[in-house]
Formats: sequence, structure tokens, C-alpha cells
Amino acid sequence: MSEGLVTVSYIGATILFILTLGGLSNQETARRGNIYGITGMTIAIVATVFGPEVSGTLSYILIVVMMVIGGTVGLTLARKVEMTQMPELVAILHSLVGLAAVLVGYVNFMDETISFATHAEKVIHEVEIYIGILIGAITFSGSIIAFGKLSGKIGGNPLLLPARHFLNLGLLLLTIWLGTIFIHQAETGGGTFPLLVMTLLALAFGVHMVMAIGGADMPVVVSMLNSYSGWAASATGFMLSNDLLIVVGALVGSSGAILSYIMCRAMNRNFVSVIAGGFGTTSGSSSGAADEEQGEVIAIETQEVADLLTSAKEVMIIPGYGMAVAQAQHTVNEITKVLRDKKINVRFGIHPVAGRMPGHMNVLLAEAKVPYDIVFEMDEINDDFPDIDVSIIIGANDIVNPSALDDPNSPIAGMPVLECWKGDTTIVLKRGMATGYAGVQNPLFFKENTRMYFGDAKESLDAVLKAIQSE
Ligand code: TAP
Repeated sequence: MSEGLVTVSYIGATILFILTLGGLSNQETARRGNIYGITGMTIAIVATVFGPEVSGTLSYILIVVMMVIGGTVGLTLARKVEMTQMPELVAILHSLVGLAAVLVGYVNFMDETISFATHAEKVIHEVEIYIGILIGAITFSGSIIAFGKLSGKIGGNPLLLPARHFLNLGLLLLTIWLGTIFIHQAETGGGTFPLLVMTLLALAFGVHMVMAIGGADMPVVVSMLNSYSGWAASATGFMLSNDLLIVVGALVGSSGAILSYIMCRAMNRNFVSVIAGGFGTTSGSSSGAADEEQGEVIAIETQEVADLLTSAKEVMIIPGYGMAVAQAQHTVNEITKVLRDKKINVRFGIHPVAGRMPGHMNVLLAEAKVPYDIVFEMDEINDDFPDIDVSIIIGANDIVNPSALDDPNSPIAGMPVLECWKGDTTIVLKRGMATGYAGVQNPLFFKENTRMYFGDAKESLDAVLKAIQSE
């Protein structure tokens, strides 16, 4: 394939990737967005493999073997992974992008065949290597810790080292200093030592950065690492002089950064404070004390739930992580249909960080074919709760916790929540009295107008569906 054809293919792939992002921003066009992405990636791979950069039978054999191994692992993982494990999978995949940037950086550093027209070009190349390895190493170790936290292998509590802000600042200054030494030594063919030390520091920084972030702020970390993985890919593109990788990396990097900003706004957090760590701590003194003063909960049975639903005019369904665990979305859709047939106005209220990944609930509801026009974002419906007769909370907890608004010591203080308690009756579906992801007790469960409907969400809703169908 000629260089001209490769360039044209890269431009085509870039356009497809931009269309992908546009498509993925809306549930109705998300499927199309995915198809654009798959097509763009296929064009990119074909153009790169058959482009002028690859030559010799051995190279092709190696590429095919590696693609078969990578493709098989990817396919097996994608088939096996449960929807609830997706965030962990995404986190571990980010770590691979970081690792690739580190490896490409070292290979570039050791490659003696690269020649430069000017001295400035050589220095720029060394800066690219240094920054590429730096971002790659932070992304790699940070994503592994995020994987551990999301999968529950590492506790959700933030690790708050004394003087951690000074520690971070010290690491940053040390990295800059090592960078100048690296550039200086690389002039005479050296530089391995400062590069290795910087890599170790960057790995330690990645671990420290994510370990310092508390449970409830993990959504920001996931999107932030998504952004880092984009910048790492972009840095790899600079090292390999691959324009497509630079552009695609920048697209992922900037869209991840925008997502992080949206997440921070949704959780009423300051981006810098989240990165600096310490939010989402469970050491908030009042949440523990509040547990004892909460009082009794009022449990409810299937028939009462069915009666409350069928006698309501306005119903709000609030899904959370528990709906994903129970895979109850299809039953939710069936119940919605029955209620709507009875001329009851059913709407869905979606919190921006419900579940474990951005858009988690929207994906599940779309999969169950819930009509899009009755699914609303939190900001669109939060003022409507005083007019709601019945709110039904399906496996959600932190996103409907009133202490976020009234307890300044709560680890989730300041996070906007769905204010369902302002409606007539709130029915909460969960298996027991366990806390949510942030590890905080929820005063909603103890309110006078709240009814607890205990059990697995899928089994409970199947029973409710049967009951309302027979009414
Ligand atoms: P959570 O606060 O995690 O609460 C989920 C509740 O579902 C639990 O209290 C659990 O109680 C219940 N549950 C679990 N399995 C169930 C089942 N089979 N049937 C019925 N109930 C079940 O979820 P949420 O309200 O969706 O809030 C999301 C939390 O995750 C936030 O803290 C958010 O910051 C965090 N987070 C979000 C993301 C993104 S991007 N969305 C990423 C990482 C972290 P029982 O065990 O008593 O049943």
C-alpha cells in the first residue's frame, strides 16, 4: 500500500472515529456509533499493517501471531464478562494502553537506527519518549489499582498518607529534574538511569493517586484514567510518528477529560480535589452515629407493592447498581408496559453515577427496550418528585441518600441525589440493609414514607409483575 493511500485511509478512519464519538453520545445512535468505530479501526489496522512501515515476511508472521493471540484473549474476555464487571474490564484495558506506551518508549529509546536531521529534532524525540513513558507508567499502575478497587480486591477506603500533597509535589519536581538530566545524558548516548528512576516514580505516583481516592469518587477516576490512556496512546503516536494514533489518542484523551469534568459536576466535586485525593472517605464521624439513631424500617410485601403501583397516577422508577446485579431490567420493562397500559404515567430517573460506569443504567434499559422518551436525567426530573405518587428504587442506594444533602460530614456530602423522599411513597428494593458503594448508611430507608421490599430485585419484580397482571 502506498504512503498516499495510507494517509487517505488514516483520514477516513479519523472521520469515522469522530462520528463514533458523536454516535455514542446518544442511546438511539449508539449502535451506529459502534459500527463506525469498528469500521474505522478495521481500516486503521489494515492500512498500518499493509503500509510502508511494515516489511518482510517475518514481520507479517509476527503481526498475525500477535493478532491471533490478542484477538482470542479479547474475544474470550468479552464473551465471559458480566455486565457488572465491565468497569473492571475497562480499567484493566486502560492499563494495557499505559503498558504499551511504556514499552514503545523504551524500544524507541534503545533503537539506534533512528536518525535525525537536526539536533532540535533529536531533543524533541527524547522529550516525547520521556513524557510518553511518564504518562504510560502512571496510567498502567493507576489502572491496575482502579481495577482492584472496582472488583473489590482492594478496599474502597482512601489511603491518606501524611503530607500526601507535599509528596505529590515532591514527585512532580523530581520528575522534572530527572527529565532535564535525561535529556542532558541522552546527548552522549546515556540516560538509562534517570529514565528508569522516573518510570519507578511514575508507577508509584499512579498507585498513590488512585489509592488516595475514596469509593464514591471512583467514577471520576475511571473517566480520568480513560483520558490518561488516550494521552498515552497519543504519546505513543508521537514516538512512532503515526498521525492516526496521535489524533485518536487526542480524541480519547479529550473526551475522557470532558467526561471527568461532567462526572465531577454531577457529583459536585472539584476536579483538582478529587485528584489530590481524600474525598469519599468513610471516616466521616456522623454517618456511624447516625446508624444508631435511624430507628425502624417498615417492610412491605408483594401484594402491597402491586396495590401501591396500580393505584398511583405518577410512578418514578430509579434504577441502581442492584438492578444490574439482579439483571432485572427486562422485568422492569414488562412492569412498565403493564402500568402504562393502565394509563399510569411511568418515568425513569437516572442519576449520572448510578451503577458502576457512565451510562450503565441507560445501557441496561436500552437493552430491555424501555422507550427512550420516558427515561430522564436527574436534572430533568428532580423537581418533579413532590408530584410523584410512588417512587420505586431498584437496587440503588448512594444516589438516593438524603445525607448527601443534609449531613456535611457525610463522605458523599454535596453530591446531588434523586430526591425521591419528597414524593408520597418510596418503595426500596434491596436484599438487606447493606450500604452502597460509598459505604454510608442511608437515612431514606428509615423515613416514614419509605417501604422496604426485601429480596433479590429480579425475583421481587417477577412477583410484582405477576400480581399486577392479575389485577
Ligand atoms: P450502590 O450505592 O452501590 O447501591 C447498590 C445497592 O444495590 C446496594 O445497597 C445493594 O444492597 C443493592 N443490591 C445489590 N444486589 C442486589 C440485588 N441482586 N437485588 C436487589 N438489590 C441489590 O449503587 P447506586 O445507588 O447505583 O450508586 C452507585 C455508586 O457507585 C455511587 O457511590 C457511585 O459513586 C459509585 N460508582 C459509580 C461509577 C459510575 S461511573 N457509575 C463507577 C464507580 C463507582 P443489598 O446488598 O442490601 O441488596
